[in-house]
Amino acid sequence: MKSYQFIPYTKESYDEEETLKRSKAHFEYFNKRRTVRDFSDKPIPMEVLENIVKSASTAPSGANKQPWTFCIVTSAEIKKKIREAAEKEEYDSYNSRMPQEWLEDLEPLGTDWKKPFLETAPALIIVFKRSYEIVNGKKKNNYYVTESTGLACGFLLEAIHHCGLAALTHTPSPMNFLCTVLNRPENEKPFLLIPVGYLAESTTVPNISRKDLTDIAVFYK
Ligand SMILES: Cc1cc2nc3c(=O)[nH]c(=O)nc-3n(C[C@H](O)[C@H](O)[C@H](O)COP(=O)(O)O)c2cc1C
Repeated sequence: MKSYQFIPYTKESYDEEETLKRSKAHFEYFNKRRTVRDFSDKPIPMEVLENIVKSASTAPSGANKQPWTFCIVTSAEIKKKIREAAEKEEYDSYNSRMPQEWLEDLEPLGTDWKKPFLETAPALIIVFKRSYEIVNGKKKNNYYVTESTGLACGFLLEAIHHCGLAALTHTPSPMNFLCTVLNRPENEKPFLLIPVGYLAESTTVPNISRKDLTDIAVFYK
């Protein structure tokens, strides 16, 4: 196996004051990201969607296997199919599959089995994780597939936020219908269904709070 050629790499760095300023500004900008469930139907230019996905694909991945596929759906017909299948699963989940504790945790968010945003949002990005590849007819493993694809989705959400669009991280459960509707190969498993779009005119979001730093971080100085 041949090694990669190693090439010089540089990037900008800043003095302490500027580093602090940038870290604060970045937190404030990230803290404005919210999950949205009300989208306008205003179309998104295809090049914007391409750039968002290209940003997501810069995420690190186990052994650089990049074990992900992004399916970008703007077709009204396919969005309708996805909505119908998702609502069928979600109806069963909300009415008989989810344990009481889960339903109680979801109640404050006001979600239910109805998913109109799957048709209203101008684009759905369905992320698949690839547990293996077929190379010359042989199975080749990917590594840390869930971690890598999760990171790519984080990058995707950041890219969406950065260009003034909004997204919903959606997990209609189970999601196998996405393999059938989108005709995906055996080695791909649905990971997240992410409607993307501009905010609807009177979008509201639940007034949730984020945990304090002291509840999420432990410093060993
Ligand atoms: C893995 C994952 C799955 C989620 N699934 C759903 C979902 O199926 N439906 C939904 O309305 N929101 C879903 N959410 C969104 C969360 O409810 C939301 O991120 C959380 O309430 C925090 O709100 P925020 O994103 O505005 O900070 C999901 C989020 C994550 C990370």
